Amino acid sequence: MTLHLDHVTLTYPDGDRRLTALDDVSLTAEPGTLTAVVGPSGSGKSSLLAVAATLIRPDAGRVLLDGRDLAPLSRSETAKVRREQIGIVFQSSNLLASLTAVDQLVLITHLAGGDLAAGRRRALDLLAAVGLVAQADKRPSELSGGQRQRVTIARGLMNEPSLLLVDEPTSALDRERGEAVLRLIRELTTDRGLTTVLVTHDHDHLASADEVVEIVDGRTRQLANR
Ligand SMILES: Nc1ncnc2c1ncn2[C@@H]1O[C@H](COP(=O)(O)OP(=O)(O)O)[C@@H](O)[C@H]1O
Ligand SMILES: [Mg+2]
Repeated sequence: MTLHLDHVTLTYPDGDRRLTALDDVSLTAEPGTLTAVVGPSGSGKSSLLAVAATLIRPDAGRVLLDGRDLAPLSRSETAKVRREQIGIVFQSSNLLASLTAVDQLVLITHLAGGDLAAGRRRALDLLAAVGLVAQADKRPSELSGGQRQRVTIARGLMNEPSLLLVDEPTSALDRERGEAVLRLIRELTTDRGLTTVLVTHDHDHLASADEVVEIVDGRTRQLANR
């Protein structure tokens, strides 16, 4: 699915004025490609993902998925788009301490009212895809940081999304584990034809991106287009 942000401006309340987090941002991301978003802390990277994820409506500009403008949709309609088409792997999307890895994923099926046996099969397939078959029955406290990160990525794929939005997936990992997570996201993007937008602070990750967008003070510029 093609994601298009068209002249998006987003502000937040800031005392008695507004803080501009995204300032006339445009971006297009195509299926099977990985778009990396880089920039200093506070520059608007997570805000950009939240707008793309339909979690926040912009003040101005449009968000289009395969050319469909999301603005006229109601909250419940955008929730449906999220549930069915968008994989969200944000720093705030923590694992639940009491659930095993496989159950973190099956919970998504449960919340969507889906078939639990089918959900469990899909969960085990995804855990296999991220290299965690042997950890399926482990709880977060029994997993390493890299393994937990891979569980959150697998969970983000449970709904078979076409758009995958990932916010700094390697921030808590050492270099080697971070590279492994990045390789995994790159492979999933190519193999499943995902439209992936990945926020990262690690410039080593840019080599595996198809597009690199830098954002500074809410304004974007294209760094590379390979
Ligand atoms: N919910 C919010 N309310 C008010 N200001 C916010 C909120 N979220 C982010 N901001 C502000 O918007 C700007 C961009 O934040 P963010 O998108 O989180 O940047 P980044 O992810 O690049 O660090 C920052 O100045 C931040 O303080
Ligand atoms: Mg952020």
